[in-house]
Amino acid sequence: MATKKLGKKLRIGIVFGGKSVEHEVSVVSARNIIKALDKGKYKVIPIHIKRTGNWFLDRKIFNKIDVVFPVIHGMYGEDGTIQGLLKFSGLPFVGAGVLGSAIGMDKDISKHLLKEAGIPVAKFITLYSGEKISFKKVSEKLGSPVFVKPANTGSSVGINKVKDEKEFKKAVSEAFKYDSKVIIEEAIKGREIECSVLGNDAPIASIPGEIIPKNGFYSYEAKYIDKKGAEFKIPAGVSKETIKKIQQTAIRAFKTLNCAGMGRVDFFLKKNGDLLVSEINTIPGFTSISMYPKLWEASGIPLSKLLDKLIGLALERFKKEQKLCYNHKQ
Ligand SMILES: Nc1ncnc2c1ncn2[C@@H]1O[C@H](COP(=O)(O)OP(=O)(O)O)[C@@H](O)[C@H]1O
Ligand SMILES: [Mg+2]
Repeated sequence: MATKKLGKKLRIGIVFGGKSVEHEVSVVSARNIIKALDKGKYKVIPIHIKRTGNWFLDRKIFNKIDVVFPVIHGMYGEDGTIQGLLKFSGLPFVGAGVLGSAIGMDKDISKHLLKEAGIPVAKFITLYSGEKISFKKVSEKLGSPVFVKPANTGSSVGINKVKDEKEFKKAVSEAFKYDSKVIIEEAIKGREIECSVLGNDAPIASIPGEIIPKNGFYSYEAKYIDKKGAEFKIPAGVSKETIKKIQQTAIRAFKTLNCAGMGRVDFFLKKNGDLLVSEINTIPGFTSISMYPKLWEASGIPLSKLLDKLIGLALERFKKEQKLCYNHKQ
């Protein structure tokens, strides 16, 4: 593995695009990252993965990369697959490893782990491939309406809010189009709060921000199409004690879910003060309006500095992993 020589620029491979419904968002995030990277320190090597899964990369260049920054959201990027390839190739990379990425992507597994750690989450039912359940049974346990989601998804794709048997059936079959496991959640009435986490062994949390979706559901349209689909409030208008609780819970969730480097923890804050973790994003958006970088900027870390830190954390984790024992006789 090539490492940085004194005075030489570190070569950063930015992997983006990918075989995912979030392909376009990834392209915008990558462009924003490339623009902000300090060109005095880094040589940027863009690696575009087409929708078909084909890579635009010369193999010789691949061997010269010092650190990889995967900027692929959703499947084949955020789910541990590319992290496995990079680990196998002996390349340091930004963000969570194989396990943390896979856990963070799976709304069913991550909710079970959070619950086990005593971190409140919405009540949910998991539907495995081939299983069926009536809306009556669902609503007896979770009330109505409910959210139906593919277990592994992002950008609200395949997610529906439903309130009767007919809508429910349709939503379940739509969710099964995207994944072989579906999760049904109680609908939470609360504010949507997001908090950015940064670090490896001693992660820190940003000031929290709030998202106010126009029609009460932060849908794909509200995220990327309708510019007025949601309002952002940074910092979120909450008390000092609540900020502390959000930050502490974000860090605990980050650790519980085996994350590293970066992660955006999303919450529901109920009127009575109850705080529930909604989900974690291990490769959050990095567009100019994305919450992860915006929250750090508001916390005193502008994007180019944030990228320096993320690259430093990737190298730190790689070095630590290399020191682990791989031979019982050592
Ligand atoms: N259980 C729930 N109660 C209330 N709103 C929800 C619930 N689950 C999802 N939502 C709404 O749907 C949006 C997308 O759901 P989320 O689980 O965050 O999926 P994604 O991973 O696609 O972002 C949330 O931001 C929120 O507006
Ligand atoms: Mg979300």
